[in-house]
Order: sequence, then C-alpha cells, then structure tokens
Amino acid sequence: MTTATTPLLEAKGIVKVLGSGASEVTALKGVNVDLMPGELTLLMGPSGSGKTTLLSILGCILTPTGGSIRIGDRTTEGLDAEGMADLRRRHIGFVFQAYNLVPTLTAAENVMLALDLRGVPLSKAPGLAEEALAAVGLSHRAHAAPSKLSGGEKQRVAIARALAGSPSVILADEPTAALDSENGKAVMALLAEVAKDMRRAVLVVTHDHRTLSYGDRMIRIEDGRIVGRARRRPGKPLSEHELDDALAA
Ligand SMILES: Nc1ncnc2c1ncn2[C@@H]1O[C@H](COP(=O)(O)OP(=O)(O)OP(=O)(O)O)[C@@H](O)[C@H]1O
Ligand SMILES: [Mg+2]
Repeated sequence: MTTATTPLLEAKGIVKVLGSGASEVTALKGVNVDLMPGELTLLMGPSGSGKTTLLSILGCILTPTGGSIRIGDRTTEGLDAEGMADLRRRHIGFVFQAYNLVPTLTAAENVMLALDLRGVPLSKAPGLAEEALAAVGLSHRAHAAPSKLSGGEKQRVAIARALAGSPSVILADEPTAALDSENGKAVMALLAEVAKDMRRAVLVVTHDHRTLSYGDRMIRIEDGRIVGRARRRPGKPLSEHELDDALAA
C-alpha cells in the first residue's frame, strides 16, 4: 500500500552506460532517488552531469543498465519495452524546456492527444482536458493554437498535458529555461502547487538558482553521482547557502 510517507517513486542503484566502444560513457554511476507525494524536488548539477539521463530513466523512457525503479507497487525489473511504456503512460507526466506542443492542434487538443496516448476513452477526453486547463488557469485559451500563446502560456498548457490523466509523478527538464523571470516564477509556483494540492511527486531539473525557493528538497548531481542533498526547513526556503552545505556534505 502507498501511504503519505512511502515514496511514489524509488530509484535504487541506477547505473546507465550510453554509447558504445570508444565513445562509451557511464552517465550514471549508482544513483538513489526517492520522490515523495506532496513534494517538489529540484535536481541541479553542471552540464553533462547526467540530469536528463536520470530524468529519462525515472520516467521509464530509458532502461537502466543497472538498478531498478519502483513506481507505486510496480517495478521496472524484468520489464520489456512495452511494459516500460505502460508504466510510463500510467504514472508519469513530462514537461520539457521547449514545451513540445503539437503546433497544428489547439491547447485543448494537445491535452486530449496526451489523454488518448494514456488510453483514456475519447468520450471522457474533452471534460478532462477542460479540467486540466482550468487547473493551470488557461480555460479561456483552450481553443488557441500554440503560435497564439505566450511562452508562459505554452508551458502552462504543457503542464496541463502532463497532469491530464492523473499521473502520480511529474518530471520537468528545465521548464523555466526559455522563460523570462516572471513567467519562470509562475511556472515554478504552479509546479509547487501541483505537488502540494494534488499530492503528486514533482521533480524539476534546473540550472536556475531563482527556482530554489520553490523546492522542498534539492539533489545535486555531478559526474553521474549524487554529491549533495538538502531539505527545506520549516519557514526557511532552500537557499544558495544550503547548496554549498549540500556540496560540502
Ligand atoms: N546518446 C548518448 N550517447 C552517448 N553519450 C551520451 C548520450 N546522451 C548523453 N550522453 C552523455 O552522457 C552524459 C550525461 O548527459 P545528460 O544529457 O544526462 O547531461 P545533463 O546533466 O542533462 O546536461 P545539460 O545540463 O547540458 O542538459 C554526458 O557526458 C553526455 O555527453
Ligand atoms: Mg539535460
């Protein structure tokens, strides 16, 4: 049974070898991560440290070379590609830096497409898409094409798409990188709200120290290894100072 204190997602001993022959790279070297319901976790680290690789493995896009992932009561151990895809469709919502909306579909249709991929019956899709767009404050833009939306609005549609179908884990790869400061803050506030109010586990890869104040936890990765972890203390947001502490730990 999954309770409030059980991680929604648990990754143990994750190793990932990418490429082959002379270009072989061990991108992850034994990584453990827990994602709790109601928490926004920040994943920070230099370029090439393995953040996107880790996100792809947690989201069952890539199969780990070693180690395993448990999501809810299911584990990736022994799963084939179809089994991984099924786990991903049921449990994971993704948000990308470049929004990745289909340009020829409206905001609502983009969300409905994601619902279709999750196997939601067509008859239920319009209502659920409406709900998801309302949750990100974009009901009034439901019939707009992505080209008519601002960057911040596009990312909110992408968050609605990630939420639709109620996956328990939301994974975001630098969701604020293409946004100005105000829109970046709005997107982080929304992701924090998704964690808190909807009791999802949210993981955000970020380079942007301005996102620190939205995190409940911070994980620092360098060269394929977790080198620091910090947790928000009551009434005290995560700060640069804690980042240094985590690094020294
Ligand atoms: N398909 C691939 N084949 C071989 N090596 C790869 C492949 N994809 C990534 N790598 C290597 O794996 C390491 C981790 O890459 P990854 O994309 O996870 O880094 P990142 O932390 O997301 O970096 P960035 O901040 O630049 O997005 C890097 O050394 C990268 O060059
Ligand atoms: Mg990356």
